[in-house]
Amino acid sequence: GETRATAVAHVNVALVKYWGKRDAELVIPWTSSLSMTLDAFYTTTSVRFVAEPGDDEVVLNGAPVTGVPRQRVTAFLDLVRTRTGRTGKALVDSENTVPTGAGLASSSSGFAALALAASSACGVELDATALSRLARRGSGSASRSVFGGFALWHAGHDDESSYAEPVESPGFDPVMVVALVDTAHKSVNSRDAMRRTVETSPLFRPWADSAPADLKEMRAAVERADLDAVGEITERNALGMHATMLAARPAVRYFAPATVSALDAVLALRRAGISAYATMDAGPNVKVLCRRADADAVAEAVHAAAGCPTAVAGAGPAARLLVAP
Ligand code: DP6
Repeated sequence: GETRATAVAHVNVALVKYWGKRDAELVIPWTSSLSMTLDAFYTTTSVRFVAEPGDDEVVLNGAPVTGVPRQRVTAFLDLVRTRTGRTGKALVDSENTVPTGAGLASSSSGFAALALAASSACGVELDATALSRLARRGSGSASRSVFGGFALWHAGHDDESSYAEPVESPGFDPVMVVALVDTAHKSVNSRDAMRRTVETSPLFRPWADSAPADLKEMRAAVERADLDAVGEITERNALGMHATMLAARPAVRYFAPATVSALDAVLALRRAGISAYATMDAGPNVKVLCRRADADAVAEAVHAAAGCPTAVAGAGPAARLLVAP
C-alpha cells in the first residue's frame, strides 16, 4: 500500500540553549533548554512510503538531497520504519518557508515536521510527548518545535525521559527581530561544533553547570511574562555558550563583523531605554528579543548598524498535520 502525510512545524530559537550531547546516538543533551517557537519561519514536509525497496528520495526546496544529509534523513526514517513495521522506501518533499532573501534553514522545524509526517504516513498517531521524543532523535532542537509558544526540553537521562513540553505564558507576546547576517565563509556545522566543544573546551562544564539555574529563572520569568528578566537570562546564556565555543580547541567562532555591530546596536538600544536582548545560535545571525511595540525601532536600529536585512517573528504555533492519510 501507499500512504502519504504532510506536516508543518515551525523553527524555534532557544532562550536557554542546548549545546552538547551526553549520548549522541539517542540525542540526550547535557542540559535542559527552553525555547520560543517562531511564527515567521517553518518547514512543510510531505512523506510518502511506497512498496518498492531502494534508497529514500529526499527533496528540499525543489532540489534533491544527497550524501550525508540524506543519510541523516534515512537514519531517522529507519527509526520510524523499525518502530511501525513499515517497509519500503520513502519519498520526502520538504519546503523551508522563510522571508525573502533569508537563510534561516533549521533542523528544528525540519525534523519536527518529518517526525510528524513520517509517523502519520505509517498510520501511527503519536501523542505530543512521543512525537517530541521521536523528533529529538533527528535533531535535539526539533524536540521543542513540536510545541508552539514556549517549550522546555527536559534533558532526561534516557530515551524515555528526554522530551519537551509547553510552558504556559498567558499574555506574553514578545517578538524576535532576526538580523540576517550573511556570511561568505563556511562555518563548522553545529553537530561537529557541539562535539568539539564538549570534548575540548575547558569552559564547557562551568557553562553546563550554570544551566540549571538559568533554566529555573527562565521558566519563572516566562510564566510571569517578565520580558526584561527573560531577555537578561537569554543574552547571558547565549554569550556563555559562545564563550565555551571560543575556548574549544580549535576555536569555534560564529561571530562575523556584522554580528558584533548588531550586538552593539542592542546595547545602544538598552542604553536608550528600549528593552532589547540578543541571542545567537550556530551561525552569525543575531536574534533580538523585544516588545512587539518596539519591533520596528529595533529592526531599524539593527539594520542601520549591521547593514543586513531583518525579519520580525512572534510566537508561533505547534506542529500540525495538513494532510493525513
Ligand atoms: C545552538 O538541535 O541543531 O541552536 O541535535 O546535533 O541536531 P543536533 O543539534 P541542533 O542544535 C541546536 C543548537 C543551538 C541551540 C538550541 O537550539 O538549543
